Amino acid sequence: MSRAIGWMLAVGVCALAASCLSCGSPVHDQQVAEMGPEPPGEHPGPLHRAGQPCLVCHGWLGPSHTEFAVAGTVYKAINDKTGVDGAIVIFTTPDQNSIAVQTNAVGNFYVVKDRWPLSFPYQVQVQYPKLPNNMKMASPISRDGACNDCHADPAGPARFGHIYLVADVADFPQ
Ligand code: HEC
Ligand code: HEC
Repeated sequence: MSRAIGWMLAVGVCALAASCLSCGSPVHDQQVAEMGPEPPGEHPGPLHRAGQPCLVCHGWLGPSHTEFAVAGTVYKAINDKTGVDGAIVIFTTPDQNSIAVQTNAVGNFYVVKDRWPLSFPYQVQVQYPKLPNNMKMASPISRDGACNDCHADPAGPARFGHIYLVADVADFPQ
């Protein structure tokens, strides 16, 4: 290969890489855009965008600089979308490695990617100290910690409804 062609190829590859970095993937950019800006008075942080698919923006394509391994939102009941403060999301691998993460005031939980200790697959369950039974996801999670991508409303063929602790809010402890 002549030097000139090698150089042209290198420039071409750089241009491609640069354009990928600046515009990401069109599908991703559209997903981010569709969620719109922060509501007036809200700031990006642990309490923002409850229920939204966190990892769309907190994955390697951004726009957030903080990449999460897992994130989502826990609600009271199927029929009550109040976020639960102090629920515990427990992740367990087949060899019994485990990590527990607590939800915050709006029901959000997340683990930053650099601090995530487990490998796939893992099981997940949600516990609330005042409830006798944990909510368990039957199938293991094998490649995607983006809880709210699947757990979104309205439930349908590809969306399974929000994560909840009891079926009926009347059974949620005061
Ligand atoms: C539409 C895009 C978008 C969605 C959806 C989103 N975030 Fe964010 N988030 C951002 C941006 C942008 C920032 C601030 C800039 C940055 O982190 O680089 C941010 C910041 C944060 C921070 C502060 C990070 C830090 O290191 O300072 C936390 C924590 C956070 N978000 C949690 C969540 C959780 C939990 C969810 C889902 C319930 C969520 N975000 C959904 C875009 C998003
Ligand atoms: C690929 C889609 C998908 C992802 C990602 C996913 N879930 Fe699920 N989840 C499901 C489906 C489908 C069910 C119902 C069947 C079952 O339990 O396997 C379910 C059930 C559950 C349940 C049982 C009760 C309920 O709310 O329906 C909990 C709790 C749960 N998931 C939590 C989580 C958490 C926490 C995460 C993120 C670590 C997560 N899920 C990620 C699809 C998903």
